[in-house]
Amino acid sequence: MELRAEEVLNLAARVLSEERFKHTLGVADCAEEMARHHGLDPLKARCAGLAHDLAKEIPIKDQLSLARRWDLLHYPEDEQYPAVLHGPLAAYWLEHYYKVDDSEVLAAIASHTLGRPGMSPLEMLIYSADLTEPRRDFPEVDILRQSLYDDLGKGTLDCVERTLRYLRQRNKPIHPLTQLTYEDLQRRQNVGTGSKNA
Ligand SMILES: [Fe+2]
Ligand SMILES: [Fe+2]
Repeated sequence: MELRAEEVLNLAARVLSEERFKHTLGVADCAEEMARHHGLDPLKARCAGLAHDLAKEIPIKDQLSLARRWDLLHYPEDEQYPAVLHGPLAAYWLEHYYKVDDSEVLAAIASHTLGRPGMSPLEMLIYSADLTEPRRDFPEVDILRQSLYDDLGKGTLDCVERTLRYLRQRNKPIHPLTQLTYEDLQRRQNVGTGSKNA
């Protein structure tokens, strides 16, 4: 079944707090606009944006037990820092309980927390919209928005780089998937520009 924007909007309004719902609308608007600009499917972008944080407010203890039950734990860090699980959980939930079968949209929801090597343009879009939606306010956000407008791949690389920098500065753990995502995006940029380091 295809995910319909109206349905997922109602679902988000039901399960999310007011603040998170506003963030969700910001991500959906931002993703839709970026999709139009970069020639991607705006409706898929909107649906993935609306759905990306559906599992975020499930108590962490329950997120962990669901992830265990649904076999979504792939790294020791997933259990150590379970806040990263809400993307895969939402995707699994929509696929198995709402019979959503759009693998592109499901992947974009699943990978929005950590990224993954080999991200599709829609995955990049949701990952980046989550960080740069209009309500986000941090010093480099406008530079990231411009970079995403100019080039989705380079802009996403800049977003991942910013996240890594932010985590390092605060001595926070870095999940291996985010590091792998960074290396993958960097390699893809180098290939695109014909660098000898590719
Ligand atoms: Fe999230
Ligand atoms: Fe989010």
